[in-house]
Amino acid sequence: MPSQIVIASGNSHKAHEIQSLLGKEYTYLTLKSFPEAPEVKEDASSFAGNAVKKALSLVNWLKQNESLSEGWILADDSGLEVDVLNGDPGVHSARYASEQGAENSTDEANNARLLLELEGKEAHHRTARFRCVIAMAQAGEYSQPHIFEGSCEGRIAQSATGEHGFGYDPLFIPNNYNNSFGELGPEIKSELSHRAAALRHLKDWLDKL
Ligand code: IMP
Repeated sequence: MPSQIVIASGNSHKAHEIQSLLGKEYTYLTLKSFPEAPEVKEDASSFAGNAVKKALSLVNWLKQNESLSEGWILADDSGLEVDVLNGDPGVHSARYASEQGAENSTDEANNARLLLELEGKEAHHRTARFRCVIAMAQAGEYSQPHIFEGSCEGRIAQSATGEHGFGYDPLFIPNNYNNSFGELGPEIKSELSHRAAALRHLKDWLDKL
């Protein structure tokens, strides 16, 4: 019987990428199966802090509700760091265009704000990286999650291109390529991405258990 992983995310793109990268050895659930689970305020100052918060919040809630006591809870916190913006949008990536910075904003609005912030900057001033931190917690146990990290270096395009992916993918050109993740599509993204790198570390760790 394969072990079960609950992906503590309501972002279907993220959940889909995680499932296809980790593979069929596991069965998966997402937050969609637990609509009553409380929303987590992602107010930590680091990706790791938010990933741990999301994982432990769900562990705790599942425990209290006796919904699940076996398997793993996987939380991914990720975002984009642009060098010339001193690492912004960083942990604010999902809500970069939001007025108060509290609510998530649409991908289109976030991309538009980023392009505005970088207006007039040439390619060598548009260097950036995606970062992903995964917190893996055991269901039923309120103990410190295991952390796995990955990053992907690249630059921000002058305009959005491509239909694949989500978030900043239409603006992010990985190093050694001339096209955005939005254009390159899932196969290439699954080799190069920050999430793929973090999940490779996680997979190695799971394989040794
Ligand atoms: P989180 O759900 O709080 O981790 O927010 C992640 C945000 O970072 C997303 O809403 C996207 O804007 C951005 N992001 C994270 N990973 C990716 C990716 O793989 N492609 C594009 N944008 C991403």
